[in-house]
Amino acid sequence: MLRIAILTGGGDCPGLNAVIRGIVKARREEDEVIGIKRGWKGAVEGVYVNLSDDDVEGIHLLGGTILGTSRVNPFTVKNGVEKAENNFRNAKIDALIAIGGDDTLSVAAKFSSKGLKVVGVPKTIDNDVSNTDYTFGFHTAVNVGADAIDRLQSTAKSHERIMFVELMGRDAGWITVEAGLAAGAHLILIPEFPRTIDEIIEILDKRMKTKRYAVVAVAEGFKPTELETVVGDKTTVDAFGHIRLGGIAHYLAEIVEQKTGYETRSVVLGHLLRGGTPTAFDRILGTRYGVEAMKLVQRGDFGRMVALRGNEIISIPLEYGVATKKVVPYEYYKLAEMFFG
Ligand code: F6P
Repeated sequence: MLRIAILTGGGDCPGLNAVIRGIVKARREEDEVIGIKRGWKGAVEGVYVNLSDDDVEGIHLLGGTILGTSRVNPFTVKNGVEKAENNFRNAKIDALIAIGGDDTLSVAAKFSSKGLKVVGVPKTIDNDVSNTDYTFGFHTAVNVGADAIDRLQSTAKSHERIMFVELMGRDAGWITVEAGLAAGAHLILIPEFPRTIDEIIEILDKRMKTKRYAVVAVAEGFKPTELETVVGDKTTVDAFGHIRLGGIAHYLAEIVEQKTGYETRSVVLGHLLRGGTPTAFDRILGTRYGVEAMKLVQRGDFGRMVALRGNEIISIPLEYGVATKKVVPYEYYKLAEMFFG
């Protein structure tokens, strides 16, 4: 008999509940699954709930995570690692399935190297975990983003304005480039490919002179070449050292209006991108990841992360997922660029 714990860490993400349900449904009759509440915070504090078939009934339809989440890092909490290890021992946990993005998974990899039996599941709307084609949650975020940009097209056109729409994406512009491409944004700005304000104005001015309106999709982590740092609240830093981003759309809207005289507005999509019900794609991907994670546990295949390769669910060493960020390649951005202006 095995006692398997699950935790969900980092930002919430559509599809988390599908993973949890997949794990619980794939357990053997003799095994027990328990949920750790609030990510690594609950691991340090020892807060657990039992998870039965009844507890996961229908939850794959719901956004968020029934376990709650946090951005706590046990390696930066006083005695956090020892406390978590003691709690795992006292709760007789045989294995842990950690569902998270690179921060949560990097903590999981550290625990794994200390001997904990861990399996990782890659989660993030940002789609920036390496060595998996997709993380779940990304598809939903792209759909929400594309729908918002679609809607901004008609108001931008009616008022002959430039609308700047800001989408999440700290280091990787996947959501912005895909939502922008799908909804026909006239300029897409992402962290991987900085541009000067003059370059931005040149593209927009050309478009405004002929079409008289424009929609610009900008990732929160985009930094115009002239700025030394990204736009955000630099005084608020999380346990993984990230500042709170936000404000680049407003910054660009103001400076472009000042310099060109075109009327501008800015919209921040922020957490709308990750709230609410997951798409069918994310429900299915989350379900497949959860079932495969449980299979790895049953095979005793630890220190690994499930991943999507083509249409196959595979597994890779956990460190491969967290070693580097998966960013948008130049060829892909070039494709989007064909439709600028
Ligand atoms: O989880 C990833 C993410 O959505 C990033 O795109 C964004 O920068 C960050 O989370 C926002 O985090 P929080 O919800 O803690 O403000």
